Amino acid sequence: MHPLLSVPMSASAYRTLAALVYEHSRIRLGPDKQSLVANRLRSRLRALGLDSFDAYCERCQSSVGEDEIEQLVDLISTNHTRFFREPEHFTHLTHRILPEWIPRLEADGTPFRVWSAATASGEEAYTLAVVVSEFLRLRVMADWRVEASDISRRMLARAEKGIYRMEDVGMVPPELLRRYFQKGVASRQGACRIRPELRAHVRFHRINLFQSEYPVDRPQHVIFCRNVMIYFDPPSRASLVRALSACLAPGGYLVVGHSESLLGLRHDLEAVRQGIYRKP
Ligand SMILES: C[S@@+](CC[C@H](N)C(=O)[O-])C[C@H]1O[C@@H](n2cnc3c(N)ncnc32)[C@H](O)[C@@H]1O
Repeated sequence: MHPLLSVPMSASAYRTLAALVYEHSRIRLGPDKQSLVANRLRSRLRALGLDSFDAYCERCQSSVGEDEIEQLVDLISTNHTRFFREPEHFTHLTHRILPEWIPRLEADGTPFRVWSAATASGEEAYTLAVVVSEFLRLRVMADWRVEASDISRRMLARAEKGIYRMEDVGMVPPELLRRYFQKGVASRQGACRIRPELRAHVRFHRINLFQSEYPVDRPQHVIFCRNVMIYFDPPSRASLVRALSACLAPGGYLVVGHSESLLGLRHDLEAVRQGIYRKP
């Protein structure tokens, strides 16, 4: 057995790391996550040549700490996502939100803007791009943009590549797959790539949802911030919802994950249906 596999994490090292993670990302690590964190960090300790979690804590608190904490958050966060995840949200976008917004924007020549605010490896952002592009296919509206952001540089690098395994695109209807994806051939067999014409509408940013300013255009008409709030505590969720709401146009929508709700948080949005809120 590799010696590090048996290195234990002390309660005080865990408290220190959990506090650093919270300070950096607002992800709240409960006491039940200690062994998960220890397991995920062991290979990082090995890569850094460190022999204990206490030494790792010291590194995080040193002058190179900022970069290391970023790696730490990346290692412990959940990046699971998929194309057309929670499909009702995309159906609502097609049948309710786009028909409401697009004619108005067409009339005054304003671009339609939608933001995937915790996009992970990009599936949500590209699903949004597919849905908007489909809606606009037979219309004259020229300009629209999807902003795609995440705290994880590793995830963003994958998202920017826009290359997925064929088994990852199983939820994409075949007609849309043909229209918006290119199948890999020869050594790329088994993979597919987002077509450049679609990719050109998506802009990537590294954004921590708790930073003071978001480098995205304003106002946004729709913000998807799904399956990330569950990791934050209620005061952080409330401040995040207010910050996102401030980026929305009046009549714009905030969409959160099915298992997330704004219940009990103070905010200025109206509930429309499960996970969908509208700024009055
Ligand atoms: C489970 S994924 C959600 C992906 C997608 N929104 C979906 O619903 O399928 C959560 C993502 O939130 C990101 N994240 C966690 N804390 C964050 C923060 N403070 N700011 C921005 N992104 C964050 C993680 O890096 C991860 O990629």
